[in-house]
Amino acid sequence: MANRREFLQKSALGALSLPLFSFNDVPRSIQELKLAQPGMENYWQMVRKQFALKEGQTYFNNGTMGPTPNYTLSRMMNHMTHYAKHAAEVDYKNGSGPELLSGYFPCKELRKKLGAIINADYRSISLTQNATFGMNYVGMGLDLKKGDELLNTNQEHGGGFAAWQLLAKRKGCVYKQATMPTPANDPQEVVDAIFKEVTNKTRVIAVPHIISAYGVVMPVKEICAEARKRGIFTILDGAQCIGHVKVDVKEIGCDAYYSSLHKWLLAPAGSGLLYINPDVVENIWATIPSYNWENKEDHGFRLMQNGTGNPGLLEGYDAAVDFYNTIGEDRWIGRIKELGDYLRAGIKEMDHVKIHSSIHPDMSAGITTYAVNGLSGPELQKTMWEKERLQPRSVGEDLLRHSVHIYNSKEEIDKALNVISELA
Ligand SMILES: Cc1ncc(COP(=O)(O)O)c(C=O)c1O
Repeated sequence: MANRREFLQKSALGALSLPLFSFNDVPRSIQELKLAQPGMENYWQMVRKQFALKEGQTYFNNGTMGPTPNYTLSRMMNHMTHYAKHAAEVDYKNGSGPELLSGYFPCKELRKKLGAIINADYRSISLTQNATFGMNYVGMGLDLKKGDELLNTNQEHGGGFAAWQLLAKRKGCVYKQATMPTPANDPQEVVDAIFKEVTNKTRVIAVPHIISAYGVVMPVKEICAEARKRGIFTILDGAQCIGHVKVDVKEIGCDAYYSSLHKWLLAPAGSGLLYINPDVVENIWATIPSYNWENKEDHGFRLMQNGTGNPGLLEGYDAAVDFYNTIGEDRWIGRIKELGDYLRAGIKEMDHVKIHSSIHPDMSAGITTYAVNGLSGPELQKTMWEKERLQPRSVGEDLLRHSVHIYNSKEEIDKALNVISELA
């Protein structure tokens, strides 16, 4: 395993031009990166060079999908090429065979790295394809009964509501939605809106940690604490969260948490995670059972062992986590927040713009959704592209969702602010 990894890392370096990192010498690179002054724009220019994004074009749609860094791409592609060439040399029984079927292998090392990011033991973590799988593994795995109430917000993504609606129809559960304030600038107002809908029949509270359309960072710790007092199962939709804001599942106190790391952690498409609190995991059945469906030692593996998948993708997933750790969580997340605040500060000044996201410091991060007087969301998106080659994303009829990430710069945000300002 170590040799295989070493080989792949070396071959990855051959295909990369990495002025910033040498992954054969990660500790030294990390030291150098830590010595750089936070806030130094030339540091972030170096980071930008780690992406294949074209010069002169600006990607502002990370909320949909994160671009893959060169390092991650390279490790993933090298892995696939290597095993395409060396298939005949693989000793299935005693060598890396099971690893190459990916869905039969426990991937402990990657799960440990993810556990370090979200503060959980690796056995509480399952690797999934994405957030949608996470929601379904929990929803379908819980023993829900007729009359049980399942509570969402009215601002869910399909990957946050559909399992609960299906269960209501299939099992006779009662599906409810709490109406969120918009814009949401008071955490208590959000908590109150949710518990207003709770009754003694509520079995599940399933809410986003970050709301997809508006980027509102929800007061999830308070929601989970109150739910726990009432014996209600909490599951958080963190599709938009890992790599975007700090996620500490123990501190949050949720029963389950799922995420798509191909968004803010910039992992390759198809890199998801599901965490289930060890206190409740025995109550969750495997939805796609295979050999390990009754494994009591490693519940995470029990829930994720779902047959043959793409091991190259897992190599890319692992590489994306290494890339994240090399830059460092505080610096990465801090930069996203800095750029988000920079954008909001600019548009707050404009009378013809209305911000639909939160401007509360604890409820806002890298997504800002706004409307510009007189223009629909799709028109605004088109204008941004035609004038400056900027690519945010329209949502609904009237809004533009503008995501910022570590590969963006203040200059790019200034370009967007100029376009908006000219529309006054
Ligand atoms: C809040 C939220 N939940 C779930 C999803 C679904 O994610 P995926 O398609 O990766 O499963 C998204 C995707 O944008 C989202 O924003």
